[in-house]
Formats: sequence, structure tokens, C-alpha cells
Amino acid sequence: MAPVIVIAVDGPGGVGKSTVSRTLAKRLGLAYVNTGAMYRAYALAAIKKGVDIHDKEALEGFCKGASIVYDAAKGSVSVNGDDYTEEVGGLKAGESASIISTNAEVRRRLVAYQRSLGLRASCVMEGRDIGTVVFPDAAIKFFLDAPPDVRAKRRGAEFSTASNVSIDHALRQRDKRDAERRESPLKPAQDAVVVDTAELDLNGVVDKLLEILKDRGIC
Ligand code: DC
Repeated sequence: MAPVIVIAVDGPGGVGKSTVSRTLAKRLGLAYVNTGAMYRAYALAAIKKGVDIHDKEALEGFCKGASIVYDAAKGSVSVNGDDYTEEVGGLKAGESASIISTNAEVRRRLVAYQRSLGLRASCVMEGRDIGTVVFPDAAIKFFLDAPPDVRAKRRGAEFSTASNVSIDHALRQRDKRDAERRESPLKPAQDAVVVDTAELDLNGVVDKLLEILKDRGIC
């Protein structure tokens, strides 16, 4: 059996990580693992159970009984048997995920689960800490970036119902929380390939990543 390959894709919100990673995985015939969807589903499941997600102890109590299943083939995610695949895309899910992702116990459990998935099958795994924490030995670590105003514009196109001002504000707040948290803050791994996506469209980014993978003889 060929050894598994993990391609790590990290970066801030609104940079286009999910679309790029999903497309890249498809082009390479690899599984696509969206770790943000796991934090989002976990947060929604906690809220559904009546847990105050700002309450450390309550959240850690929730973690003890929570079981997550991410199905890369179906692109589905469920917690305690409840399917959250449709709901994870919403703004509320993203904001709540960012809040619970500051909790060490939440991270410990989800990171362990993500490692188990990455050891099972070759994949493109996207998130915030894949190259720094989850798979520091990943075959390659991409860090996608773009200035906040460009990312807010992309998010705005995704959520036409929310005002651009509120999207921009929420995104900057989330950037700050993700980058300043004590547990696995968002930052490029030392050996990450940082790709500025500001001037590129989806296909441009995917082509660039494929070129780098080819140059390095990875895929
Ligand atoms: O990538 P996303 O927008 O779906 O992520 C939602 C939140 O989840 C993000 O604000 C921080 C958290 N997250 C994380 O801390 N670590 C990851 N590997 C993925 C997401």
C-alpha cells in the first residue's frame, strides 16, 4: 500500500480555502477534509444541547460525551448522530466555531480525530493549524492569504443577505480571535508555502498549487 500523503491548506477566513482545497482534492483524486466544518458542527451541537459556548467547564463537559463523524466521500459531518452538513455553512456556525476553537479540550479532541482521518487516506486537509499542529510532517503546507478587504468582499459575495459592513467587521474580529488565541493560533508553519491569492481567481490559485506540487514531485 502506498504511504498516505497529507496536503495541508491553512489560512484566514474568507481567503477561499474551502473551494480551493475541494477543487485541488478533486483534481488530484484525493479525499477532501474540511476541519472548519468539524469546529462548526461541534459548536452547533453544543448550542443545541443548551451549552453556553463561552463557559469553559460546560463546554468541556459537552466534549466528554460528544462523538463526531466526518465522511469525506459524502462531505457530511455529524455530531452525536445529528447531521449538521447543511447548517455548517452559515455565519452563526462560523462565529460560534471561532469561539469554541479557543478551548484546549475541544482542540485536543478534534485534532486527534483529524489525525486519525489523515492517517487513513491521502487527503487535502484544510484549516487553521494543519501545518503547524495536526500534521507538522505534511508532504506540503500551503498557507493561503489575502488582505482583509479582499477576503471580506469574497465573503460578501458568498452571503448576499448580510451587509458588507457587518461581514467586514465580523471577519476582522474573527481574524483577531483566531490569530491571538493561546491554543494553536493561526499562523503559517515555518516551512509553509505562502500564496497570496489577492490577484488570483479560484482556478488561478488551484493551478498555482498544482504547479508547486509538480515542481516538488509530490503529486
Ligand atoms: O475555516 P472555517 O471558517 O470553517 O473555520 C471556522 C472557525 O473554526 C475558525 O474561525 C477557527 C476554527 N478552526 C480552527 O480553529 N482550526 C481549524 N483547523 C479549523 C477551524
